[in-house]
Amino acid sequence: MKKFLITITALSMLGGIAMTAQATPQTDLKDFRAFFFKKFPGVKLQDYGNGAYALDADRRFEWEAMEEFPPYEEGVEIGEKLFTKYNVGKCFKNGGLGIKQNYPYFDQKTKQVRDLERDIMACLENNGVDVKAEGIKYGKGKMAAISAFMAYNSRGKKQNVVISNDPASLEAYNDGKIFFYAKRGQLNFSCADCHMYSAGMLARGNLLSPALGQTSHFPVWRRSWSKKTDAKKGKHDPLGGFGTIQKRYAGCNKQVRAKPFKLQSPTYDHLEYFHTYMSNGIMLNGPAVRH
Ligand code: HEC
Repeated sequence: MKKFLITITALSMLGGIAMTAQATPQTDLKDFRAFFFKKFPGVKLQDYGNGAYALDADRRFEWEAMEEFPPYEEGVEIGEKLFTKYNVGKCFKNGGLGIKQNYPYFDQKTKQVRDLERDIMACLENNGVDVKAEGIKYGKGKMAAISAFMAYNSRGKKQNVVISNDPASLEAYNDGKIFFYAKRGQLNFSCADCHMYSAGMLARGNLLSPALGQTSHFPVWRRSWSKKTDAKKGKHDPLGGFGTIQKRYAGCNKQVRAKPFKLQSPTYDHLEYFHTYMSNGIMLNGPAVRH
């Protein structure tokens, strides 16, 4: 790890996107993309939706084999049953089908950024579901399964996050951007240190994925999360591998020994807003398998 730390610190001085007052979401997106296109000249925009597997042929081969018998399939079916049971479709446009590409969005009424999981939770509460009794929480389990079903039937749609003209929308975006580039934790790393400047490098055996495209395939189904849940429960839980993007944010914060924020807190909502906007135009392909 030590050697890895030193390399990252050296590389993090190389650049990034402008933090000036003149920067707009549009110029940020152009610069962000240009950074990766220069770093990985052979990788096409849509391929960034495949995370680290866009960068390494051997790992990609192994991953494609896992996707042949997707371990999330049973979980997506359960997600669909829950979606129907709780009448989730009624709260969304188009009955909740094929709409994930518009998330997160800035809600004019509440002046808040809302991601898909927040709207699912609000829907369940509106529909009178006792979420506590049903064991529904942000981040994993049933919530992630409903979200995974909604991601699944939005596959192929291009991410299309809008930063609206409302100054509060731009403020939320900028807040997320600052978070993405800010160093934190005892190890003093920013998201950009690992997922921009060191993308394609190894960190303790993991190939660091590029930040561009990272939002396309969530929720993910991770083998490591599944194993951990199964061990805790002493039996197989088909939903145990699922985790939302904000659960992943918390995990990455912990990796640098920073205290994670609460899921669906404004900090992570704003990060997700910026992070997803940067991947606009990349097709949704979630849920995806990960190690
Ligand atoms: C110390 C390095 C490090 C830092 C800092 C870090 N991550 Fe990660 N992150 C990883 C590793 C390692 C993985 C697993 C391999 C991969 O997919 O990149 C990962 C995975 C992810 C994934 C899942 C990618 C996928 O395709 O499944 C997302 C999303 C992510 N990180 C976002 C972030 C964000 C946002 C931040 C800042 C809050 C951050 N990370 C900070 C190391 C880091």
